[in-house]
Amino acid sequence: MPFAAARFLLIAVFLLAVAEGQNRQVRNPLANDPEAVVAGRGLFVEKCSPCHGPSGEGGHGPSLVEGRGIRRLSDPELYSSVKNGVPGTDMSGFPLSDEQIWQIVAFSRSLIAPAAEQPAPGDIQAGGEIFWGRGGCSSCHSIRGQGGVIGPDLTDIATLRRGDQLATSITKPSEAVADGFRAVEVTLPGGKDVKGIAKFENNYTLTLLDREGRLHFLRKKELQQIAYPAGSLMPADYGDRLSEKEMQDLLAFLSRQTLRK
Ligand code: HEC
Ligand code: HEC
Repeated sequence: MPFAAARFLLIAVFLLAVAEGQNRQVRNPLANDPEAVVAGRGLFVEKCSPCHGPSGEGGHGPSLVEGRGIRRLSDPELYSSVKNGVPGTDMSGFPLSDEQIWQIVAFSRSLIAPAAEQPAPGDIQAGGEIFWGRGGCSSCHSIRGQGGVIGPDLTDIATLRRGDQLATSITKPSEAVADGFRAVEVTLPGGKDVKGIAKFENNYTLTLLDREGRLHFLRKKELQQIAYPAGSLMPADYGDRLSEKEMQDLLAFLSRQTLRK
């Protein structure tokens, strides 16, 4: 009996190994290969960007990075969409070599990867100095328990966002205001104005967090006025205030802010 059991185990292990081998075969052989990603970017810009935009953000064709886009597709499915096209749509197949298609697949995956998986180049320390110093970022944002509270905590931001999202957050903060950070301005019963963000809110009450980090628990019907300015509380002029190098350094710094270290 022990002999039969051992034989069964041996066969099971063998079958698992075969299945694992097949699994590996259908994955992109060039996955996470930085050179393939660079080569794939060139091909993507040439072949795909007319419809999907240079970073897959969409244009004449659908976005590949928003929603489930590339995320829901396995490597073989991506491969097949590029090689054979997508039936019933404007996208026809591309007569490219296997290697080129896998390069495009590698680049496509990189488009949706969080910043931490492909940290931006640049001077991390100089970026940190901007964050904690002259950029003033830390007056509103915290990292690992240090800094302000009116903006989102950025301790794990590189896991949560893609590199292009980080860049957009800095240069166009009002484009996508993070949940729970809606700007609000109220006039208190005594006539004093308070600005901040609406932390918690229902029909009757509002919890406002002001720039000094104080929470105000307010009854809406007692307020003289309540307004929701469009856009973000974050300054909108960093794109002008920071040089290209400073921006790159800042992104290098932010793309390393992850708890998974
Ligand atoms: C002529 C315009 C055009 C070009 C060029 C093009 N696409 Fe598409 N692509 C589309 C359209 C249209 C769809 C279908 C969207 C839908 O309806 O689901 C699509 C869908 C896709 C999908 C989703 C496939 C699926 O199975 O849902 C992927 C991935 C994709 N394209 C990648 C690429 C890549 C990579 C390239 C370059 C090699 C490329 N596309 C070139 C228009 C284009
Ligand atoms: C006056 C306060 C303030 C300052 C200064 C400020 N921010 Fe913000 N920031 C916010 C607020 C509020 C939000 C949330 C609303 C939004 O998404 O724009 C935010 C959002 C962000 C986000 C998006 C977070 C997410 O969850 O997606 C990033 C990244 C960011 N800020 C980085 C920075 C950097 C880097 C600097 C310095 C160059 C900076 N911020 C300066 C207030 C500020």
